[in-house]
Amino acid sequence: MEYMLVILTSYLIGSIPNGLIIGQSFYKVDLRLFGSKNIGATNAFRTLGPWPAFWVFLTDALKGVAGVLIGQYLGHTALTELIGGIAAIAGHNWSAFLKFKGGRGVATGLGVIAIIVPKVTLIVFIVWALIVYFTRYVSLASIVAAALVPITMWLLNARQEFFYFGILAALFVIVRHRPNIERLLKGQESKIKAGCKPDV
Ligand code: G3P
Repeated sequence: MEYMLVILTSYLIGSIPNGLIIGQSFYKVDLRLFGSKNIGATNAFRTLGPWPAFWVFLTDALKGVAGVLIGQYLGHTALTELIGGIAAIAGHNWSAFLKFKGGRGVATGLGVIAIIVPKVTLIVFIVWALIVYFTRYVSLASIVAAALVPITMWLLNARQEFFYFGILAALFVIVRHRPNIERLLKGQESKIKAGCKPDV
């Protein structure tokens, strides 16, 4: 019963579309209509600039933190923390408030792993930042970083359930990057820079 409660609560919190709310409330911009059409921090950066992107990133990451804390509070085990975390990522990616559409799960996933495996988070974040710095492709950095989560967990001998969580979380993130992967393969992915002109 508590598993269901953890899943439902964390999923609903994860479903809150912060990028959409911040964009529409403060800038009268629907992020789904501009840039990559994604509701995440990268597209907020691209479309609205660094500060809105910062707030989108922070509030999305906090949803991941909230998912883990809900799992901790309602279930009291490492497993329920992981379930809460993964449910929050799923909520972000397939939001109950957006007809099961949503974001890519990167910031929310980062919030989850920052709590459960801080060492892994640090390593993965450094790799992510280096790839962004050298290629300017945030999506490429996110895809590699996501794949690195379970690999780093395995290399650092993390607990087995963490490793399985890492695989699932990575899949959730990578699957949602499908449009980015297609654009990357065609050489059409946009490099990150602030203040892109909206393309609609
Ligand atoms: O975190 C999302 C990022 O990896 C890609 O964002 O807007 O370029 O699809 P975007």
